[in-house]
Amino acid sequence: MSKYGLPPALTRNLRLPAIAAPMFLVSGPEMVIAASRAGVIGSFPAPNARTSADLEDWVRRIDAALSNDPDAAPWAVNLVVHPSNSRLPEDLACVVRHKVPLVITALGSPTRVVEEIHSYGGLVFADVNSVGFARKAAAAGVDGLVLVAAGAGGHTGATAGFAFVEEVRQFWDGPLVLGGAISTGHAVRAAEILGADLAYLGTSLIACTESMAAPDYKDMVVAAGAEDIVPSKGITGVTANWLKSSLIAAGYDPANMPEDKRPNFSDAQDDAKAWKNVWSAGQGVGAVRGVEPVAAIVDRLLSEYDAAAARPRFAPAEGALA
Ligand SMILES: Cc1cc2nc3c(=O)[nH]c(=O)nc-3n(C[C@H](O)[C@H](O)[C@H](O)COP(=O)(O)O)c2cc1C
Repeated sequence: MSKYGLPPALTRNLRLPAIAAPMFLVSGPEMVIAASRAGVIGSFPAPNARTSADLEDWVRRIDAALSNDPDAAPWAVNLVVHPSNSRLPEDLACVVRHKVPLVITALGSPTRVVEEIHSYGGLVFADVNSVGFARKAAAAGVDGLVLVAAGAGGHTGATAGFAFVEEVRQFWDGPLVLGGAISTGHAVRAAEILGADLAYLGTSLIACTESMAAPDYKDMVVAAGAEDIVPSKGITGVTANWLKSSLIAAGYDPANMPEDKRPNFSDAQDDAKAWKNVWSAGQGVGAVRGVEPVAAIVDRLLSEYDAAAARPRFAPAEGALA
């Protein structure tokens, strides 16, 4: 739906128009490689690698596995561009050194990284959770926007996807990604119909075999439905969606979550302590039915997507009302 279409660098070997979204403590090299080989864009957040040296190692591993694979789709690194992230310069240098094809920025202005990523021909997509931030990111010269709408896992937006895409499409005709409770192939197709080019899949992949999520976390995701998701600022200082049972197990009262936590992304490993016990998922969690390899999930989404694409247009019945 983008006026210019997606750049060929992004659609190579893509079977489903989707990105396996970056997830803190969930997506690592194994999941990125499996996603890309299954035909969606794989990605991971740089802070999942404990140090910049580990990041170097991860990027090398992924690059070695995918760059010589004729069937692999592109892949991406997610950089936290919040001013409090002191690791950004080193992580950015690693991304530039390895010419990572796509960088997805989160939690701040992409301005700090756009020029360096463009210097080697890389693409920058900015993850935004409001129309205002979408406008600012567009002005910063990014190549694509990732709209994180209401119902998303992780740090969620508050705007309904239906409204979000419409407003952003009024000023942005470049590549557009929509995330937030897209957990089926029907929903991927719906995102395209709204005007997005790609769907951003987080929650639907937490329980995949290749994810780094703990087995109990995967089981909780499989068992949960939309009513088990609690939005709260209390864990990271930024509104995120959490699995109710994990909040209770960690000693929180889901009905009375703390409100005074201040955001601080200076030490992801510190943040990891919070995310290790309290588990995030979005409202699309009810579509997850088991622990399966990414390839099996993508195959199912693809057949649902095809079924949705083949669905006939509404047609009114003819004749007078009886
Ligand atoms: C467990 C979990 C961790 C996440 N961690 C990150 C992250 O580190 N960086 C980021 O940009 N987005 C993160 N997200 C958000 C996802 O990238 C994506 O926006 C979201 O999952 C899409 O919505 P969905 O979960 O409803 O599919 C996370 C989401 C989840 C569920």
